[in-house]
Amino acid sequence: MRIGILGSGSGSNMQAILDAIEDASLDAEIALVLSDNPNAFILERARTNGIPTALIDCRGFKSKYPDEAQRETAAALKAAGVELVCLAGFMRLVRKPLLDAFPDRILNIHPSLLPAYPGLMAWQQAVEDGASESGCTVHQVDSGMDTGPIIIQAKVPVLPDDTAETLHARIQIEEHRIYPEAIRIVTGVTS
Ligand code: GAR
Repeated sequence: MRIGILGSGSGSNMQAILDAIEDASLDAEIALVLSDNPNAFILERARTNGIPTALIDCRGFKSKYPDEAQRETAAALKAAGVELVCLAGFMRLVRKPLLDAFPDRILNIHPSLLPAYPGLMAWQQAVEDGASESGCTVHQVDSGMDTGPIIIQAKVPVLPDDTAETLHARIQIEEHRIYPEAIRIVTGVTS
């Protein structure tokens, strides 16, 4: 199973997928890591591990993911032989050009129990809302924002003294467990 990963940030979820491959609990290979942010640590992590990387050129748009850039992303993933695309902290909305290239084969991890708290900084939304629990979700990507069929979720309690940062840190521990598990579920591939 050749996996392509798209990320904009630190890449700890990419690392978790890589760790699962290395400890042989997931029989897969990360074929390509793509980022829209040239300074993203995910690129550094990938290079350190000998994984090919490339930049996504979003034509100077801050948050938009232009169709042309999506077509280029799809072409790069196809050229790398990617069969499953994993969004891991990727902060742009994927739409038709990429969705059509990988039907039902794009996953996303989101730091809340969807459908609660879609969008940005979901952990902060949970704290500000006074929620007693939150968590994380891996789901298939469709044309909506953080919609699409849910594959797996994990609950995390919100503690009385939680800040956005402490809650996010505890959610991430669960993210790193459920993302490899979601890949096993959708592909039927273990070791
Ligand atoms: C993760 O918490 C992920 O759930 C979140 O960004 C973080 C990326 O961390 N994604 C979203 O908020 C997407 N809407 P990472 O770069 O260390 O994997």
